[in-house]
Amino acid sequence: MGQVQSDAIENQFQSADDSQPRSLDSLIAEAAAYGEDSENESIDEKARKALECPCIAHLRGGPCGNQFSDAFLCFLKSTAEEKGSDCVSPFVALQSCIKANPNAFSKDVLEDDDDDVRKQDEVQKEDTPKQEYRIIPPIWSVESKASWLIKRLLLSGYHVIGTVRDPGNQKKVGHLWKLQGAKERLRLVKANLTDEGSFDDAIIGCEGVFHTASPVLGKPTFDVTVEILNPAVDGTLNVLRSCKKNPRLRRVVLTSSSSTVRVRDDIDPNIPLDESSWSSVDFCKKFEIWYVLSKTLAEKAAWEFCEQNNIDLVTLLPSFIIGPSLPPELCSTADDFEFHGRMGYVHIDDVALSHILVYEHPSAHGRYLCSSKVLDNNQLVSVLSERYPSLPIPKRFKKQDRPSYEFNISKLESLGMKFKSVEEMFDDCIACFKEGGLISSI
Ligand SMILES: NC(=O)c1ccc[n+]([C@@H]2O[C@H](COP(=O)([O-])OP(=O)(O)OC[C@H]3O[C@@H](n4cnc5c(N)ncnc54)[C@H](OP(=O)(O)O)[C@@H]3O)[C@@H](O)[C@H]2O)c1
Repeated sequence: MGQVQSDAIENQFQSADDSQPRSLDSLIAEAAAYGEDSENESIDEKARKALECPCIAHLRGGPCGNQFSDAFLCFLKSTAEEKGSDCVSPFVALQSCIKANPNAFSKDVLEDDDDDVRKQDEVQKEDTPKQEYRIIPPIWSVESKASWLIKRLLLSGYHVIGTVRDPGNQKKVGHLWKLQGAKERLRLVKANLTDEGSFDDAIIGCEGVFHTASPVLGKPTFDVTVEILNPAVDGTLNVLRSCKKNPRLRRVVLTSSSSTVRVRDDIDPNIPLDESSWSSVDFCKKFEIWYVLSKTLAEKAAWEFCEQNNIDLVTLLPSFIIGPSLPPELCSTADDFEFHGRMGYVHIDDVALSHILVYEHPSAHGRYLCSSKVLDNNQLVSVLSERYPSLPIPKRFKKQDRPSYEFNISKLESLGMKFKSVEEMFDDCIACFKEGGLISSI
Protein backbone atom coordinates (compact mmCIF):
# COMPACT_ATOMS: atom_id res chain seq x y z
CA MET A 1 0.00 0.00 0.00
CA GLY A 2 2.88 2.36 0.71
CA GLN A 3 3.96 1.85 -2.86
CA VAL A 4 0.56 2.88 -4.17
CA GLN A 5 0.67 6.05 -2.19
CA SER A 6 4.14 7.13 -3.08
CA ASP A 7 3.46 6.43 -6.76
CA ALA A 8 0.29 8.50 -6.57
CA ILE A 9 1.95 11.49 -5.01
CA GLU A 10 4.89 11.17 -7.38
CA ASN A 11 2.65 11.48 -10.41
CA GLN A 12 0.79 14.41 -8.97
CA PHE A 13 3.71 16.53 -7.93
CA GLN A 14 6.10 15.90 -10.69
CA SER A 15 6.71 19.54 -11.51
CA ALA A 16 8.58 21.86 -9.16
CA ASP A 17 8.37 24.68 -11.67
CA ASP A 18 6.78 24.84 -15.08
CA SER A 19 10.03 25.06 -16.99
CA GLN A 20 11.80 22.16 -15.25
CA PRO A 21 9.61 19.22 -14.25
CA ARG A 22 10.95 17.57 -11.11
CA SER A 23 10.26 14.10 -9.79
CA LEU A 24 8.87 13.67 -6.32
CA ASP A 25 12.02 11.77 -5.36
CA SER A 26 14.20 14.77 -6.08
CA LEU A 27 11.75 17.09 -4.28
CA ILE A 28 11.73 14.82 -1.22
CA ALA A 29 15.50 14.62 -1.25
CA GLU A 30 15.85 18.38 -1.49
CA ALA A 31 13.17 19.13 1.11
CA ALA A 32 14.52 16.45 3.48
CA ALA A 33 18.04 17.84 3.15
CA TYR A 34 16.61 21.28 3.92
CA GLY A 35 15.16 19.84 7.15
CA GLU A 36 18.27 17.90 8.11
CA ASP A 37 20.39 20.96 9.02
CA SER A 38 20.39 20.29 12.73
CA GLU A 39 21.13 16.77 13.97
CA ASN A 40 19.55 17.42 17.36
CA GLU A 41 16.07 18.25 16.10
CA SER A 42 13.19 15.78 16.45
CA ILE A 43 11.65 14.15 13.39
CA ASP A 44 8.62 16.47 13.74
CA GLU A 45 10.81 19.56 13.73
CA LYS A 46 12.82 18.29 10.78
CA ALA A 47 9.62 17.54 8.84
CA ARG A 48 8.21 21.00 9.62
CA LYS A 49 11.47 22.57 8.47
CA ALA A 50 11.49 20.45 5.31
CA LEU A 51 8.03 21.72 4.50
CA GLU A 52 9.41 25.25 4.48
CA CYS A 53 11.82 24.40 1.65
CA PRO A 54 11.34 26.87 -1.22
CA CYS A 55 11.59 23.88 -3.55
CA ILE A 56 8.02 22.91 -2.69
CA ALA A 57 6.64 26.40 -2.06
CA HIS A 58 4.64 26.27 -5.30
CA LEU A 59 2.88 23.14 -4.05
CA ARG A 60 2.04 24.61 -0.64
CA GLY A 61 0.18 27.55 -2.17
CA GLY A 62 -3.21 27.51 -3.86
CA PRO A 63 -6.53 25.92 -2.98
CA CYS A 64 -5.01 22.51 -2.13
CA GLY A 65 -1.93 23.80 -0.34
CA ASN A 66 -3.17 22.73 3.11
CA GLN A 67 -3.96 19.23 1.93
CA PHE A 68 -0.58 19.05 0.22
CA SER A 69 1.19 20.17 3.41
CA ASP A 70 -0.63 17.58 5.53
CA ALA A 71 0.18 14.75 3.11
CA PHE A 72 3.78 15.82 2.60
CA LEU A 73 4.39 16.28 6.33
CA CYS A 74 2.94 12.86 7.07
CA PHE A 75 5.03 11.33 4.30
CA LEU A 76 8.23 12.89 5.65
CA LYS A 77 7.50 11.72 9.19
CA SER A 78 6.67 8.19 8.09
CA THR A 79 9.28 5.59 9.01
CA ALA A 80 11.67 4.21 6.41
CA GLU A 81 9.78 0.90 6.26
CA GLU A 82 6.34 2.42 6.05
CA LYS A 83 7.17 5.33 3.79
CA GLY A 84 3.75 6.86 3.34
CA SER A 85 1.71 3.73 4.07
CA ASP A 86 0.30 5.28 7.25
CA CYS A 87 -0.80 8.45 5.43
CA VAL A 88 -3.80 7.22 3.49
CA SER A 89 -6.24 9.84 4.83
CA PRO A 90 -4.18 12.95 3.98
CA PHE A 91 -3.37 11.56 0.53
CA VAL A 92 -7.01 10.82 -0.17
CA ALA A 93 -7.97 14.33 1.06
CA LEU A 94 -5.35 15.82 -1.22
CA GLN A 95 -6.50 13.83 -4.21
CA SER A 96 -10.13 14.79 -3.55
CA CYS A 97 -9.13 18.45 -3.36
CA ILE A 98 -7.26 18.23 -6.66
CA LYS A 99 -10.27 16.59 -8.25
CA ALA A 100 -12.52 19.41 -7.01
CA ASN A 101 -9.96 22.10 -8.03
CA PRO A 102 -8.45 20.98 -11.32
CA ASN A 103 -6.41 24.20 -11.58
CA ALA A 104 -4.86 23.89 -8.13
CA PHE A 105 -1.57 22.71 -9.60
CA SER A 106 0.13 23.10 -12.93
CA LYS A 107 -0.90 21.06 -15.95
CA ASP A 108 2.20 18.84 -15.64
CA VAL A 109 1.17 17.90 -12.14
CA LEU A 110 -2.28 16.79 -13.21
CA GLU A 111 -1.34 15.09 -16.44
CA ASP A 112 -1.97 11.49 -15.37
CA ASP A 113 -5.43 12.18 -14.03
CA ASP A 114 -7.11 8.89 -14.98
CA ASP A 115 -4.31 6.91 -13.44
CA ASP A 116 -4.54 8.99 -10.28
CA VAL A 117 -8.27 8.42 -9.95
CA ARG A 118 -7.67 4.69 -10.35
CA LYS A 119 -4.94 4.78 -7.71
CA GLN A 120 -7.15 6.82 -5.41
CA ASP A 121 -9.84 4.15 -5.72
CA GLU A 122 -7.27 1.52 -4.80
CA VAL A 123 -6.09 3.49 -1.79
CA GLN A 124 -9.67 3.95 -0.63
CA LYS A 125 -10.45 0.27 -1.10
CA GLU A 126 -7.38 -0.76 0.84
CA ASP A 127 -8.16 1.74 3.55
CA THR A 128 -11.68 0.47 4.29
CA PRO A 129 -11.98 0.54 8.09
CA LYS A 130 -11.53 -2.94 9.48
CA GLN A 131 -12.85 -4.74 12.49
CA GLU A 132 -11.00 -7.64 14.01
CA TYR A 133 -9.87 -10.10 11.34
CA ARG A 134 -10.91 -13.60 12.08
CA ILE A 135 -8.87 -15.27 9.43
CA ILE A 136 -6.01 -14.67 7.08
CA PRO A 137 -5.81 -16.34 3.85
CA PRO A 138 -4.02 -16.71 0.89
CA ILE A 139 -0.77 -15.89 0.15
CA TRP A 140 -1.56 -17.17 -3.27
CA SER A 141 -4.59 -15.06 -3.49
CA VAL A 142 -4.81 -13.63 -6.94
CA GLU A 143 -5.17 -16.74 -9.03
CA SER A 144 -8.35 -18.54 -9.77
CA LYS A 145 -8.04 -21.16 -7.07
CA ALA A 146 -7.17 -18.73 -4.30
CA SER A 147 -9.72 -16.28 -5.63
CA TRP A 148 -12.29 -18.99 -5.25
CA LEU A 149 -11.15 -19.64 -1.70
CA ILE A 150 -11.49 -15.92 -0.94
CA LYS A 151 -14.95 -15.98 -2.48
CA ARG A 152 -15.99 -18.92 -0.29
CA LEU A 153 -14.43 -17.41 2.85
CA LEU A 154 -16.25 -14.11 2.28
CA LEU A 155 -19.52 -15.95 1.66
CA SER A 156 -18.95 -17.79 4.95
CA GLY A 157 -18.70 -14.44 6.75
CA TYR A 158 -14.95 -14.37 7.40
CA HIS A 159 -12.80 -11.28 7.37
CA VAL A 160 -10.06 -11.99 4.87
CA ILE A 161 -6.58 -10.57 4.46
CA GLY A 162 -5.13 -11.68 1.15
CA THR A 163 -1.47 -11.24 0.40
CA VAL A 164 -0.37 -10.49 -3.15
CA ARG A 165 2.87 -9.40 -4.69
CA ASP A 166 1.31 -6.28 -6.17
CA PRO A 167 -2.00 -5.11 -4.64
CA GLY A 168 -2.09 -2.25 -7.14
CA ASN A 169 -2.21 -4.56 -10.17
CA GLN A 170 -5.90 -4.23 -11.12
CA LYS A 171 -5.53 -6.86 -13.83
CA LYS A 172 -4.69 -9.41 -11.15
CA VAL A 173 -6.85 -8.26 -8.23
CA GLY A 174 -9.70 -6.26 -9.81
CA HIS A 175 -12.04 -9.26 -9.86
CA LEU A 176 -11.59 -9.76 -6.11
CA TRP A 177 -13.16 -6.40 -5.31
CA LYS A 178 -16.32 -7.49 -7.12
CA LEU A 179 -16.83 -10.46 -4.80
CA GLN A 180 -19.76 -10.32 -2.42
CA GLY A 181 -18.58 -8.95 0.94
CA ALA A 182 -15.20 -7.84 -0.43
CA LYS A 183 -15.69 -4.13 0.21
CA GLU A 184 -16.60 -4.78 3.83
CA ARG A 185 -14.39 -7.74 4.74
CA LEU A 186 -11.47 -8.10 2.32
CA ARG A 187 -8.09 -6.47 2.64
CA LEU A 188 -5.17 -7.05 0.27
CA VAL A 189 -1.64 -6.47 1.44
CA LYS A 190 1.70 -6.78 -0.26
CA ALA A 191 3.97 -9.75 0.53
CA ASN A 192 6.50 -11.89 -1.25
CA LEU A 193 7.50 -15.42 -0.35
CA THR A 194 11.15 -14.60 -0.85
CA ASP A 195 11.20 -11.57 1.48
CA GLU A 196 11.87 -12.65 5.05
CA GLY A 197 9.22 -11.34 7.46
CA SER A 198 7.12 -10.11 4.55
CA PHE A 199 3.99 -11.80 5.96
CA ASP A 200 4.34 -10.63 9.58
CA ASP A 201 1.91 -7.73 9.33
CA ALA A 202 -0.72 -9.73 7.47
CA ILE A 203 -0.59 -12.72 9.78
CA ILE A 204 -0.24 -11.15 13.20
CA GLY A 205 -3.53 -11.20 15.07
CA CYS A 206 -5.33 -13.69 12.82
CA GLU A 207 -6.73 -17.01 13.88
CA GLY A 208 -6.30 -18.90 10.65
CA VAL A 209 -3.77 -18.88 7.84
CA PHE A 210 -4.20 -20.49 4.43
CA HIS A 211 -0.86 -20.73 2.69
CA THR A 212 -1.47 -21.38 -0.97
CA ALA A 213 1.21 -19.47 -2.90
CA SER A 214 3.84 -21.50 -4.63
CA PRO A 215 5.48 -21.32 -8.03
CA VAL A 216 3.62 -23.53 -10.48
CA LEU A 217 6.24 -23.92 -13.19
CA GLY A 218 7.07 -27.08 -15.09
CA LYS A 219 10.50 -25.88 -16.14
CA PRO A 220 12.67 -23.08 -14.81
CA THR A 221 13.79 -20.42 -17.25
CA PHE A 222 17.20 -19.93 -15.66
CA ASP A 223 17.62 -21.56 -12.23
CA VAL A 224 15.45 -24.21 -10.61
CA THR A 225 16.57 -23.34 -7.09
CA VAL A 226 15.89 -19.63 -7.42
CA GLU A 227 12.68 -19.91 -9.41
CA ILE A 228 10.97 -23.00 -7.99
CA LEU A 229 12.59 -24.66 -4.99
CA ASN A 230 13.44 -21.65 -2.83
CA PRO A 231 10.10 -19.81 -3.15
CA ALA A 232 8.26 -23.08 -2.43
CA VAL A 233 10.33 -24.39 0.48
CA ASP A 234 11.90 -21.27 2.05
CA GLY A 235 8.73 -19.32 1.19
CA THR A 236 6.63 -21.80 3.18
CA LEU A 237 9.03 -21.57 6.13
CA ASN A 238 8.98 -17.77 5.84
CA VAL A 239 5.18 -17.82 6.20
CA LEU A 240 5.35 -20.30 9.08
CA ARG A 241 7.90 -18.15 10.92
CA SER A 242 5.37 -15.30 10.73
CA CYS A 243 2.70 -17.71 12.03
CA LYS A 244 4.94 -18.61 14.96
CA LYS A 245 4.96 -14.96 16.06
CA ASN A 246 1.15 -14.89 16.27
CA PRO A 247 -0.14 -15.91 19.72
CA ARG A 248 -3.77 -16.02 18.47
CA LEU A 249 -3.09 -18.52 15.71
CA ARG A 250 -5.47 -21.46 15.75
CA ARG A 251 -4.58 -23.44 12.64
CA VAL A 252 -2.60 -23.23 9.41
CA VAL A 253 -3.91 -24.89 6.25
CA LEU A 254 -1.24 -25.49 3.63
CA THR A 255 -2.20 -26.12 0.00
CA SER A 256 0.01 -29.00 -0.98
CA SER A 257 -0.75 -31.25 -3.95
CA SER A 258 -1.77 -34.82 -4.70
CA SER A 259 1.46 -34.94 -6.70
CA THR A 260 3.30 -35.21 -3.36
CA VAL A 261 1.70 -38.65 -3.00
CA ARG A 262 1.80 -40.29 -6.42
CA VAL A 263 5.23 -39.68 -8.01
CA ARG A 264 7.18 -42.79 -7.09
CA ASP A 265 8.32 -45.90 -8.89
CA ASP A 266 6.92 -48.53 -6.50
CA ILE A 267 3.16 -47.99 -6.81
CA ASP A 268 0.99 -51.08 -6.41
CA PRO A 269 -1.92 -50.47 -8.83
CA ASN A 270 -4.18 -52.64 -6.65
CA ILE A 271 -3.84 -50.47 -3.55
CA PRO A 272 -5.27 -46.94 -3.82
CA LEU A 273 -2.81 -44.32 -2.66
CA ASP A 274 -3.67 -42.54 0.56
CA GLU A 275 -2.12 -39.80 2.68
CA SER A 276 0.54 -42.14 4.08
CA SER A 277 2.28 -42.16 0.68
CA TRP A 278 5.00 -39.64 -0.21
CA SER A 279 6.47 -38.98 -3.63
CA SER A 280 10.09 -39.99 -3.97
CA VAL A 281 12.54 -37.08 -3.71
CA ASP A 282 15.22 -39.11 -5.51
CA PHE A 283 12.84 -40.03 -8.32
CA CYS A 284 11.82 -36.38 -8.78
CA LYS A 285 15.45 -35.24 -8.83
CA LYS A 286 16.48 -37.99 -11.25
CA PHE A 287 13.73 -37.13 -13.74
CA GLU A 288 13.80 -33.38 -12.98
CA ILE A 289 10.16 -33.23 -11.94
CA TRP A 290 10.74 -29.88 -10.28
CA TYR A 291 7.20 -28.83 -9.37
CA VAL A 292 6.53 -32.11 -7.58
CA LEU A 293 9.91 -31.93 -5.88
CA SER A 294 9.16 -28.39 -4.68
CA LYS A 295 5.73 -29.31 -3.32
CA THR A 296 7.05 -32.47 -1.64
CA LEU A 297 10.00 -30.71 0.01
CA ALA A 298 7.82 -27.75 1.02
CA GLU A 299 5.21 -29.93 2.69
CA LYS A 300 7.84 -32.01 4.47
CA ALA A 301 9.57 -28.84 5.69
CA ALA A 302 6.21 -27.48 6.90
CA TRP A 303 5.51 -30.62 8.93
CA GLU A 304 8.94 -30.53 10.52
CA PHE A 305 8.69 -26.82 11.40
CA CYS A 306 5.15 -27.09 12.79
CA GLU A 307 5.97 -30.13 14.89
CA GLN A 308 9.00 -28.37 16.35
CA ASN A 309 7.06 -25.18 17.02
CA ASN A 310 3.75 -26.63 18.14
CA ILE A 311 1.73 -25.15 15.28
CA ASP A 312 -1.55 -26.86 14.36
CA LEU A 313 -1.00 -27.65 10.66
CA VAL A 314 -3.37 -29.38 8.25
CA THR A 315 -2.37 -29.96 4.63
CA LEU A 316 -4.75 -30.27 1.69
CA LEU A 317 -3.61 -32.24 -1.35
CA PRO A 318 -5.78 -31.32 -4.35
CA SER A 319 -5.49 -33.18 -7.61
CA PHE A 320 -5.81 -31.27 -10.92
CA ILE A 321 -8.22 -28.41 -10.28
CA ILE A 322 -10.96 -27.75 -12.84
CA GLY A 323 -13.85 -25.30 -12.88
CA PRO A 324 -14.84 -21.74 -13.57
CA SER A 325 -12.22 -19.04 -13.28
CA LEU A 326 -12.76 -15.75 -11.48
CA PRO A 327 -9.84 -13.78 -12.96
CA PRO A 328 -10.22 -12.82 -16.62
CA GLU A 329 -6.97 -14.55 -17.58
CA LEU A 330 -6.31 -18.27 -17.50
CA CYS A 331 -3.95 -19.57 -14.84
CA SER A 332 -0.68 -21.38 -15.33
CA THR A 333 -2.17 -24.88 -15.37
CA ALA A 334 -4.68 -24.25 -18.16
CA ASP A 335 -2.69 -26.19 -20.70
CA ASP A 336 -2.35 -29.39 -22.67
CA PHE A 337 -3.93 -32.42 -21.01
CA GLU A 338 -2.09 -34.97 -23.12
CA PHE A 339 1.11 -34.51 -21.19
CA HIS A 340 -0.50 -35.34 -17.85
CA GLY A 341 -1.43 -38.94 -18.59
CA ARG A 342 -3.37 -40.30 -15.62
CA MET A 343 -4.63 -37.59 -13.27
CA GLY A 344 -7.06 -37.01 -10.46
CA TYR A 345 -9.54 -34.17 -11.06
CA VAL A 346 -11.40 -31.97 -8.59
CA HIS A 347 -13.83 -29.04 -8.86
CA ILE A 348 -12.42 -25.67 -7.80
CA ASP A 349 -15.37 -25.05 -5.52
CA ASP A 350 -14.73 -28.36 -3.74
CA VAL A 351 -11.10 -27.33 -3.21
CA ALA A 352 -12.17 -24.04 -1.60
CA LEU A 353 -14.82 -25.77 0.52
CA SER A 354 -12.29 -28.42 1.59
CA HIS A 355 -9.85 -25.71 2.74
CA ILE A 356 -12.57 -24.24 4.94
CA LEU A 357 -13.73 -27.68 6.13
CA VAL A 358 -10.29 -28.74 7.33
CA TYR A 359 -9.77 -25.33 8.92
CA GLU A 360 -13.03 -25.43 10.83
CA HIS A 361 -13.41 -29.11 11.67
CA PRO A 362 -12.17 -29.60 15.25
CA SER A 363 -10.84 -33.09 14.61
CA ALA A 364 -9.15 -32.38 11.27
CA HIS A 365 -5.50 -33.40 11.41
CA GLY A 366 -2.63 -34.37 9.14
CA ARG A 367 -2.84 -34.60 5.35
CA TYR A 368 -6.04 -34.73 3.24
CA LEU A 369 -6.21 -35.91 -0.36
CA CYS A 370 -8.77 -33.76 -2.18
CA SER A 371 -9.85 -35.38 -5.45
CA SER A 372 -13.06 -36.48 -7.10
CA LYS A 373 -11.98 -38.99 -9.75
CA VAL A 374 -8.81 -40.34 -11.35
CA LEU A 375 -8.87 -40.77 -15.15
CA ASP A 376 -6.43 -41.66 -17.91
CA ASN A 377 -6.18 -38.89 -20.49
CA ASN A 378 -7.97 -41.11 -22.99
CA GLN A 379 -10.85 -41.71 -20.58
CA LEU A 380 -11.08 -37.97 -20.05
CA VAL A 381 -11.22 -37.03 -23.73
CA SER A 382 -13.77 -39.75 -24.34
CA VAL A 383 -16.07 -38.22 -21.69
CA LEU A 384 -15.44 -34.69 -22.96
CA SER A 385 -15.78 -35.33 -26.69
CA GLU A 386 -19.09 -37.11 -26.13
CA ARG A 387 -20.39 -34.37 -23.85
CA TYR A 388 -19.28 -31.41 -25.98
CA PRO A 389 -19.40 -32.74 -29.57
CA SER A 390 -19.04 -29.30 -31.15
CA LEU A 391 -15.74 -28.58 -29.38
CA PRO A 392 -12.49 -29.62 -31.08
CA ILE A 393 -11.56 -32.30 -28.53
CA PRO A 394 -9.26 -35.12 -29.72
CA LYS A 395 -10.80 -38.58 -29.66
CA ARG A 396 -7.63 -40.21 -28.37
CA PHE A 397 -4.26 -39.26 -26.91
CA LYS A 398 -0.94 -41.05 -27.13
CA LYS A 399 -0.69 -43.51 -24.23
CA GLN A 400 1.70 -42.24 -21.58
CA ASP A 401 3.96 -44.75 -19.93
CA ARG A 402 2.93 -44.02 -16.36
CA PRO A 403 1.97 -46.33 -13.50
CA SER A 404 -1.73 -46.77 -12.87
CA TYR A 405 -3.03 -45.57 -9.52
CA GLU A 406 -6.21 -44.62 -7.66
CA PHE A 407 -6.65 -42.27 -4.72
CA ASN A 408 -8.29 -43.25 -1.46
CA ILE A 409 -10.22 -40.12 -0.51
CA SER A 410 -12.10 -41.57 2.44
CA LYS A 411 -10.27 -39.36 4.97
CA LEU A 412 -11.73 -36.11 3.62
CA GLU A 413 -15.08 -37.78 2.94
CA SER A 414 -15.21 -38.85 6.58
CA LEU A 415 -15.26 -35.13 7.53
CA GLY A 416 -18.39 -34.73 5.38
CA MET A 417 -16.92 -33.69 2.00
CA LYS A 418 -18.94 -34.69 -1.06
CA PHE A 419 -17.16 -34.19 -4.38
CA LYS A 420 -18.73 -32.91 -7.58
CA SER A 421 -18.44 -35.12 -10.67
CA VAL A 422 -16.01 -34.71 -13.56
CA GLU A 423 -18.99 -33.72 -15.75
CA GLU A 424 -19.97 -30.93 -13.34
CA MET A 425 -16.45 -29.49 -13.15
CA PHE A 426 -16.05 -29.38 -16.94
CA ASP A 427 -19.61 -28.07 -17.48
CA ASP A 428 -18.82 -25.18 -15.14
CA CYS A 429 -15.41 -24.60 -16.70
CA ILE A 430 -16.75 -24.55 -20.26
CA ALA A 431 -19.71 -22.34 -19.32
CA CYS A 432 -17.21 -19.87 -17.85
CA PHE A 433 -15.01 -19.97 -20.96
CA LYS A 434 -18.09 -19.31 -23.06
CA GLU A 435 -19.12 -16.39 -20.87
CA GLY A 436 -15.60 -14.97 -21.03
CA GLY A 437 -15.51 -15.28 -24.83
CA LEU A 438 -12.69 -17.85 -24.75
CA ILE A 439 -14.83 -20.28 -26.75
CA SER A 440 -17.67 -19.20 -28.99
CA SER A 441 -20.17 -22.06 -28.95
CA ILE A 442 -20.85 -25.55 -27.66
N1 LIG B 1 -3.69 -25.89 -10.37
C1 LIG B 1 -3.84 -27.09 -9.86
O1 LIG B 1 -4.44 -27.98 -10.48
C2 LIG B 1 -3.27 -27.38 -8.49
C3 LIG B 1 -3.42 -28.66 -7.98
C4 LIG B 1 -2.92 -28.94 -6.71
C5 LIG B 1 -2.31 -27.95 -5.97
N2 LIG B 1 -2.19 -26.70 -6.50
C6 LIG B 1 -1.54 -25.69 -5.68
O2 LIG B 1 -2.39 -24.57 -5.61
C7 LIG B 1 -1.60 -23.38 -5.48
C8 LIG B 1 -1.94 -22.37 -6.58
O3 LIG B 1 -1.77 -22.96 -7.81
P1 LIG B 1 -2.38 -22.38 -9.18
O4 LIG B 1 -2.73 -23.52 -10.00
O5 LIG B 1 -3.41 -21.34 -8.89
O6 LIG B 1 -1.08 -21.76 -9.80
P2 LIG B 1 -0.74 -20.31 -10.28
O7 LIG B 1 -1.90 -19.89 -11.07
O8 LIG B 1 0.59 -20.31 -10.94
O9 LIG B 1 -0.65 -19.53 -8.91
C9 LIG B 1 0.52 -19.53 -8.13
C10 LIG B 1 0.40 -18.39 -7.15
O10 LIG B 1 1.58 -18.34 -6.32
C11 LIG B 1 2.01 -17.00 -6.28
N3 LIG B 1 3.45 -16.91 -6.10
C12 LIG B 1 4.41 -17.53 -6.80
N4 LIG B 1 5.62 -17.13 -6.38
C13 LIG B 1 5.39 -16.22 -5.38
C14 LIG B 1 6.23 -15.43 -4.54
N5 LIG B 1 7.56 -15.48 -4.62
N6 LIG B 1 5.64 -14.60 -3.62
C15 LIG B 1 4.30 -14.52 -3.54
N7 LIG B 1 3.45 -15.23 -4.31
C16 LIG B 1 4.01 -16.07 -5.22
C17 LIG B 1 1.63 -16.41 -7.62
O11 LIG B 1 1.56 -15.01 -7.47
P3 LIG B 1 1.64 -14.04 -8.75
O12 LIG B 1 0.27 -13.99 -9.29
O13 LIG B 1 2.11 -12.76 -8.16
O14 LIG B 1 2.59 -14.65 -9.72
C18 LIG B 1 0.27 -17.04 -7.84
O15 LIG B 1 -0.73 -16.31 -7.20
C19 LIG B 1 -0.15 -23.82 -5.53
O16 LIG B 1 0.30 -24.03 -4.20
C20 LIG B 1 -0.25 -25.15 -6.26
O17 LIG B 1 0.85 -25.97 -5.96
C21 LIG B 1 -2.65 -26.39 -7.76
